[in-house]
Amino acid sequence: MTGPPTNSTTSADRRFPDGFLWGTATAAFQIEGAWDEDGKGPSIWDTFGHAGNIRDGSTGDVAVDHYHRYKEDVQLMKAIGATAYRFSISWPRIFPDGIGQPNAKGLDFYRRLVDELLANGIEPFATLYHWDLPQALQDKGGWQSRDTAKAFGDYSAYIAARLSDRVRHFFTINEFSSFVELGHGRGILAPGLQLSPGQVNQVRHHAVLGHGLAVQAIRAQARAGTKVGPAEQIIGTAPVIETPENIRAAAAALRDFNAGYMTVMMEGRYTDAFLAGQAADAPTFTSEDLQIIGSPVDFIGTNIYMVHAFVRASDSERGYEVVAGSSMVPPPARPYQPTHARAQYPNSEIALMLSPESMYWGSRLLVDVWGAKEIFITENGMPTTAEEDAEGFDTGRVVWLRAYLTELQRATADGVPVRGYFHWSLMDNLEWGAGMAPKFGLHRVDLATQKRTPKLSAAWLREVARQNAVV
Ligand code: BGC
Repeated sequence: MTGPPTNSTTSADRRFPDGFLWGTATAAFQIEGAWDEDGKGPSIWDTFGHAGNIRDGSTGDVAVDHYHRYKEDVQLMKAIGATAYRFSISWPRIFPDGIGQPNAKGLDFYRRLVDELLANGIEPFATLYHWDLPQALQDKGGWQSRDTAKAFGDYSAYIAARLSDRVRHFFTINEFSSFVELGHGRGILAPGLQLSPGQVNQVRHHAVLGHGLAVQAIRAQARAGTKVGPAEQIIGTAPVIETPENIRAAAAALRDFNAGYMTVMMEGRYTDAFLAGQAADAPTFTSEDLQIIGSPVDFIGTNIYMVHAFVRASDSERGYEVVAGSSMVPPPARPYQPTHARAQYPNSEIALMLSPESMYWGSRLLVDVWGAKEIFITENGMPTTAEEDAEGFDTGRVVWLRAYLTELQRATADGVPVRGYFHWSLMDNLEWGAGMAPKFGLHRVDLATQKRTPKLSAAWLREVARQNAVV
């Protein structure tokens, strides 16, 4: 018995591997504002907000004014000892019409941001698409059109050629499942469509095709050594009781539940069960599409908020069953709902929002199922209300995060190759259709003055980064 640590350091078994990256994540529409400045074209989210579709009447016109305050925001990151930052590039800032004539001032903004990060010792990780499609492309059919996947590949090539001298990691698309299912099936996110199941399936196919084209564009245009992968909110499974049989069951379920997204991206084919499930609604695709979609990636980026289904082994043909009452995974016909749609869940399902083991199984199963060599936790966080944050003591967030990071540390200790963690989010921001009410930030933002104030969670994450350990 050595007893508890007597100084401020944590015991060795709570430490993360040397060189582990600690960072925060954001998305362009949620923070930048400057929606029509310096030649930027409108995105589908500008249109969606201007039409009054955001719950509290918010728009992204100003958001939290990051476009003008990025230097101050980089200092917030530096103050918490962050070594990495995940941000997204606004496609219509770069190509106001989606394709054709680029807007030099748009690219300049991201060059300035990246230079500022590097000057402060923070490694930039860029997401190419976090849902803000140029409206000009939506007018031509958006993701329902194959041409959008092609345009995304072209835009990715343009960025790779111009930013890979200083950005070494690119994420292609953020949360395919959210913008496909909720934006095109349920109309909750932009572009607010409620398409038929067959049409949604085609949108999904074009999204993963866009990912594959972007991977290829980065390979062709970026500097050698540039790494690329997706940033998906994988529909997460976990064994309800940790036995070898149940772990195998969780792996099989993971592969099935993500068949239209991660499985096809990692394996380059739609599973027979997936195609049989779609029946007459299956997407139209070619074998060349599948090759492109399956282009090898360097890492898997995964946004982890919860376990979506606890499973166990069964005698059924598929070898697993979802444990009754423990699933946010819908039957195949009903699209899955991520965090921002959770208001629709009954309480029993909300309990799953506190499922820290999602960190362990959400990363470990990527190795078991697809042999992932590198993993980044591209998002993880929880919302509070303005009242809860009013005095800056978001203790609930600290308690929640400590539980999640304990499970993440368990994964790295078991040899799961997680290289970094990006907290969602650096600061309070525009939570899509839910407006400004859900507060996800480590920093509070006073919307009247745009003043940023660190919450308790910012001090906590700083200590985690400093000790490189769960504290
Ligand atoms: C998205 C973020 C969002 C967060 C919290 C993820 O779905 O990528 O943009 O703000 O979760 O809901």
